[in-house]
Order: sequence, then C-alpha cells, then structure tokens
Amino acid sequence: MTPDLMEEGARRVAAAKQAVVPGKTESGGRAAGFAHLLVEGQVDVSHGRILYLEDVSVSFDGFKAINRLSLDIAPGELRCIIGPNGAGKTTMMDIITGKTRPDAGTVFFGSTIDLLRYKEADIAQMGIGRKFQKPTVFEMLTVFENLELALKTDKSVHASMRFRLDSADADRLAEILQTIHLADSVDRLAGELSHGQKQWLEIGMLLMQDPKLLLLDEPVAGMTDEETARTGELFLSLKGKHSLMVVEHDMSFIRTISEKVTVLHEGSVLAEGTLDQVQGDERVIEVYLGR
Ligand SMILES: Nc1ncnc2c1ncn2[C@@H]1O[C@H](COP(=O)(O)OP(=O)(O)OP(=O)(O)O)[C@@H](O)[C@H]1O
Ligand SMILES: [Mg+2]
Repeated sequence: MTPDLMEEGARRVAAAKQAVVPGKTESGGRAAGFAHLLVEGQVDVSHGRILYLEDVSVSFDGFKAINRLSLDIAPGELRCIIGPNGAGKTTMMDIITGKTRPDAGTVFFGSTIDLLRYKEADIAQMGIGRKFQKPTVFEMLTVFENLELALKTDKSVHASMRFRLDSADADRLAEILQTIHLADSVDRLAGELSHGQKQWLEIGMLLMQDPKLLLLDEPVAGMTDEETARTGELFLSLKGKHSLMVVEHDMSFIRTISEKVTVLHEGSVLAEGTLDQVQGDERVIEVYLGR
C-alpha cells in the first residue's frame, strides 16, 4: 500500500469520526454506520500489519531517544522487544499510545488509521491497551468490581447509556476471570492480591475492552517464578486473538513466549529474529547481552 493510499484511508476515518459530532451529522443512519466502524475498532489488517512504524524519531533536549525507528507487527503476533536500559522501549510505547508526539515519522494502526492524528484517550478506545510496569488496580474494590469498572471507561455512546452488565459482558467477565487465573478470587479486594495477581487483574481490565493490540512494559518484573510462568501461559493464550508487544529484560521469560524478537538500541532496531538468532548476533552481544 502506498503512503498516498494510507493517507487517503486515514482521511476517510477522520472524516467518519467528525461526522458523528452532534449537529454536524448530515445523514444520521450513514454517519452512525461509519462511526460504529471506528468505535468498534474495525482495524484494516488486510495488508498483514496491525501496527506499522516507519522512520520515527523523537528527541528530548537534543538527545535522540528514538532514532529513525521502523517496525511492524502482524495481526495476532506476540512480539518481544528487548534492549538495554535507555534503548527507547518505553518511549516507543509512549509514541504508539499518543503520550509522546514524535518529531518525525509514520505510525499506523492497521493500514488506515494514522495514530499521530489522535489523542491518547482516542487511541485507547480504538483498541490499543497498555500495561505499565506498576499495577494500577483499585485496591479497595473487589476483583469483580475492578473488571466491571474497566467496561465503564469505554466512552462509547452505547456504553455510557448502559447501567449494568448485560449478559454478553457478564459472560466475557467470567471468561476473563478464568483466563487471568482469578476465578477463585472474584470477591477478594484487589489490595489483598499478590503482586502477580494484581498484574493479571490489570491485564484482565484491559481485556474487558477487547483490545486489538496490547502493549506490555516489563510485565513480569517483581513476579515470583511461578507467577512468571503463568504469565507466559497467559500471553501464549492471548496471541492470535490479540496482537501483543511485550517489553522484558527477563530472558528466560522471553524464551518461553517468543517467536520473533526485536532488539532496540539507541532508539533504533539493532537486530530482529528468533531469540537464538539475536543472542548470537555479534552487535547484540556487544551492546546488550555481553554486558
Ligand atoms: N520525557 C522524557 N524527557 C527526557 N528524556 C526522556 C523522556 N523519556 C525518555 N527519555 C530518555 O530517553 C531514553 C530512552 O528511555 P526509555 O525509557 O524509552 O528507555 P527504555 O528502553 O524503556 O529503558 P528501560 O529498559 O530502562 O526501561 C532515556 O535516555 C531516557 O532518559
Ligand atoms: Mg522502559
């Protein structure tokens, strides 16, 4: 797909979004149909990419934290990102999620949505969920209430008109409880959970929004070995249905989940391949693994 065509697609999406601003709608039925497409997150992955970064750069006070970074992720892929401290891994996630604006480059969600045109909240609503390192669950609420609350952060018209879980949501909540291994803890306060369980709960809260792409920054830091192993199983069970980008320093964890690994260094891709391939790459050994 040419950049022109991608631009054109992005313009159409932006126009569809504008069309639902109250009072600006020319044709209610038609506009609502387009809006539904965007809100429900029909991401165009017909070109084999859910996420596409090209030549992205950002500087902080003259320091290039991200330097002509190009990367793409396939639908359903579980991509691991490694790299030494300060390589730009978290900054890359900040750019994808709209927290940081790059100075240059292209960032597309599917082949039509130009993420650089959207704000952080819009990007989350389009189906990009992000997990920060520190768990941010509501400690005074139960596991159930935390998951229920995750639905209410959905600002779509449909969601804001709804006061309690409909049966489809209740089914999803029950399924997610199983997925995150917390079915036995549904009525426990989140504050009483172990660190690992809190991390799973937060992942469950993201899953309640049915994200297309999940960005997970150092998800197993601070977990016990058993929690780490279960997190690996969890991620493997999510891939296919969701696309995942996992940043981790824990190489034995990466080994249990990885297919393709991307090594970042000084804001660019240094190497890409299987974990064995990148671990055998001289340049990688030099900058990172051989430290
Ligand atoms: N908002 C900011 N202002 C100034 N410098 C920043 C900002 N955000 C990141 N940096 C710098 O950009 C570089 C990349 O940081 P980043 O946090 O993305 O690295 P990282 O790969 O996530 O490292 P780690 O593995 O330690 O988490 C670092 O040198 C950091 O100090
Ligand atoms: Mg980081």
